[in-house]
Amino acid sequence: MNSQIIIYGSEYGSTKRYAERLSEITGIEAVNYKEAKNIGDYKRVVYLGGIFAGGVMGLKKTVGKMTSQQELVLATVGMTDPNETTYFEGIRKALKAQLPASFYDKNKIFHLRGAIDYSQLGFKHRIMMKMFHSMMLKKPESELTADAKAMLETYGKQVDFVDYNGLKPIIEIITKS
Ligand SMILES: Cc1cc2nc3c(=O)[nH]c(=O)nc-3n(C[C@H](O)[C@H](O)[C@H](O)COP(=O)(O)O)c2cc1C
Repeated sequence: MNSQIIIYGSEYGSTKRYAERLSEITGIEAVNYKEAKNIGDYKRVVYLGGIFAGGVMGLKKTVGKMTSQQELVLATVGMTDPNETTYFEGIRKALKAQLPASFYDKNKIFHLRGAIDYSQLGFKHRIMMKMFHSMMLKKPESELTADAKAMLETYGKQVDFVDYNGLKPIIEIITKS
């Protein structure tokens, strides 16, 4: 069994940047989930995926190729500040429901902040964000969730919150054993 691989799901590049930095630091190969081969051969899979409408890009497909003997370390990359605990409790709950029990370890799940450039969004995503934006504008502030607030603050702009310091706890796990 090969030891470790970094796999990422990234539409616009911020998750890819995290994966490539992690690869540079640890010397572990990083591959796009669409091109990842022999996923079942690795002892540990480090998966980084962008969050889109609450889901983690490429995660389901990747985990579907893993066996229960393998270990999963997971990092989500989204627009919401990782310190927004209530929001990420919801994300973790959804992950717990989605992942086979052997892959869900709360100490091996991390949240990183990404980037968005509205001028680069694909047609479908542009429409989705436009609809979400107009729905959220109608809500009173007290009812807005953290992801909705983050979207309202950044709507139409180009923002980059990528912070490689967030990789530290992942590097610790990868390099320890
Ligand atoms: C259509 C769409 C839906 C999104 N949904 C969420 C979301 O539910 N939660 C969140 O925190 N960020 C959300 N984001 C922001 C992305 O997660 C963020 O831009 C991330 O950095 C994208 O990763 P990538 O650059 O690797 O593709 C969304 C962005 C788009 C375009």
